[in-house]
Parts: sequence; structure tokens; C-alpha cells
Amino acid sequence: MNEVSNETRFLHAIEMGLGAWQWGDRVVWGYGQGYAEKEVHEAFNTSLNLGVRFVDTAEIYGSGRSERLLGSFLKETDQPVLVATKFFPMPWRLTKNSLPRTLRGSLERLGLESVDLYQIHWPSPIVSPETFMEGMAICVKEGLARTVGVSNFWKQRIMRAYSTLSQHGIPLASNQLPFSLLNRTVEKTGTLARCKELGIRVIAYSPLEQGLLTGKYSTEKLPPGTRSSHYVELIKRIPPVIKVLQEIGQTHGKTVAQVALNWVICKGALPIPGAKNAKQAEENAGGAGWRMTDDEIAKLDEVTDGIREYPKE
Ligand SMILES: NC(=O)c1ccc[n+]([C@@H]2O[C@H](COP(=O)([O-])OP(=O)(O)OC[C@H]3O[C@@H](n4cnc5c(N)ncnc54)[C@H](OP(=O)(O)O)[C@@H]3O)[C@@H](O)[C@H]2O)c1
Repeated sequence: MNEVSNETRFLHAIEMGLGAWQWGDRVVWGYGQGYAEKEVHEAFNTSLNLGVRFVDTAEIYGSGRSERLLGSFLKETDQPVLVATKFFPMPWRLTKNSLPRTLRGSLERLGLESVDLYQIHWPSPIVSPETFMEGMAICVKEGLARTVGVSNFWKQRIMRAYSTLSQHGIPLASNQLPFSLLNRTVEKTGTLARCKELGIRVIAYSPLEQGLLTGKYSTEKLPPGTRSSHYVELIKRIPPVIKVLQEIGQTHGKTVAQVALNWVICKGALPIPGAKNAKQAEENAGGAGWRMTDDEIAKLDEVTDGIREYPKE
């Protein structure tokens, strides 16, 4: 097990974060229909009041709107907030210098001088991880990012990013990957274990499987928008999972969503559920601060084991 470096220790101490993709995104999440700035501002304030102080955004969320909204909310609070954002490998971004340049744009929208975590959103099909991580090293050295990480990096790419940063004495702080009871690829491929060994914090995105693990969607009530076709098959297989989540929830006085988030925490990852309003933010915050038993974890593992096929790493 690699020692967690001093620079990244704060990330390992965070149990629960808040995802901000839904803040401003109209295409997938329907921002402006049923919720808008007032509601997401309340989600932000509720989260802070309940001790959730790590917010994940990206330059591409709502084409910059998520970062701008977060920036305006930050101005109105004096509570400490940890901010993570992401660099998107647009096809015209081919050099290491594109990273500090792009980050300066994010910082302007956020109204900050530096972020706590800067992540590569996806690997590029044309630019090597080495080139991008050289750019990440510049971001750290120029004081624009406290720590740096990757997202959607698997297998050898993780090691390539890790090694390039190591040459600069900079730790690879995190890898943001899809991880929920309905998508256990990180566990099944050994990626979670490998990241833990290297001291890399696994940040779990879509920890509620985009709302499916709240129990509010079913074959009779599909989620709206693009999610309905995406989940049309998987949703048929979730009733036994929801049943076990409900049973465990009853023992602990917790909801289905809270148990689903707690399972991610128990596995050693940091969930960042997206919240559109105060009610969702409040419920999600209650996924942290307690632990289910090993038997309960085993029950959830068992009921989700065959839910989809997993690649071998
Ligand atoms: N790095 C990447 O490539 C990547 C990819 C995806 C996401 N992310 C990050 O991860 C965050 C979370 O992932 P995600 O947004 O895809 O999925 P998620 O957190 O699993 O689901 C979020 C959605 O579920 C519903 N929901 C959340 N809490 C709820 C509650 N307590 N009760 C009822 N419904 C609730 C809401 O949608 P409805 O109310 O419309 O159902 C919400 O928009 C994002 O915000 C983003 O920051 C990163």
C-alpha cells in the first residue's frame, strides 16, 4: 500500500461530495425545466450546512454555466468549500500549455485563484497521457491547482499518468470513475484496489446510477430524457436491489438512496451524487456519517453480482 501523500490527504478525509453537472445542463438534466438557479443554489447551501463541502464541476457542464453558478454561490458564502473542476480534451487542445490556459478560463468563471483538484475529464484519442500530465504539472507549479487527477482512466493509462507526475514529485490525487451498485466495473476489474494501493482516491460518479438507485424509477415510470433509453434494459433488473436497499434502510432509519451511497463509501470510494434541489441534497448528505454492517454489504454485493457483465482488466 502506497502512503497517501500529504498534499492529497484532504481528499481521503472527505466522505461525501456534491456533483454539479445538473447545474446549468439542459441537454441531459433539463436545467430550466422544473428547477433552475434558485433550486441549485439551495442544493449548494443545504449541502454546506450538512457538512458536504466538496463540489465537483467541469468546464463543459452547461458550457461553463455550472462553473459560473458555483462561482456566484461561492461569493455568497463564507464557509470553506473544496472545488474540483475538469479539463476536456477538445481535439484542438494538443499541447501541455493548453491545460494551464484552459484552467485559467475555469478559474475566471469560478472567481477563484486556484482549485483544490483539477482533473482530465476523459483520456484523449490523440494526445498522450504524458503530454497532458506535463500540463497538469505546470498547473500545480504555477499555483493554479492544489492537486491534480484524472477521470475515466483505466488500465495502463492510470500508470502512465501516475509515472509522469511522479517525475515532477507530484502525486496523482484521484481517478473519477462510474461506480454504483448497478455499475461495479471499478471493483470487478481490480481498478479500485489498484488505485488504493497507489494512494489514488477513487471518486465515484453516478453513484445513484443517475437516479435509479433512489427507487423512484421503474419500468412503469422511466426517467425522463436520454436516461429512458439508456436504462431501458437495466431498469428491469433493479426491483430485487431496491428491496434489499429498503430492508437495510429500515434497520438504520435511512432511505434507499442513502443506503446506496453508503455502500459506495463502505467500498472505499468518494461518492459525488448530483443534486438539483435542497431536498435531494439533504437526502444525499445522509448517506454519510454512518456505516452499514459487513453482512449488509455482502447482501448488496450478492444481489447486484449478476446485474451486468463485467470486463476483466
Ligand atoms: N467524470 C465524468 O465523466 C462524470 C460523468 C458523470 C457524472 N460526473 C459527476 O458525477 C456527479 C454525479 O453523477 P450523475 O449526476 O451522473 O448521477 P447521480 O449522482 O447518480 O444521479 C443524479 C440524479 O439523480 C437524481 N437524484 C439525486 N439525488 C436524488 C434524491 N435524493 N432523490 C431523488 N432523486 C435524486 C436527480 O435527477 P432526477 O431528479 O432528474 O431524477 C439527479 O440529477 C455529476 O454531477 C458530475 O459532477 C462525472
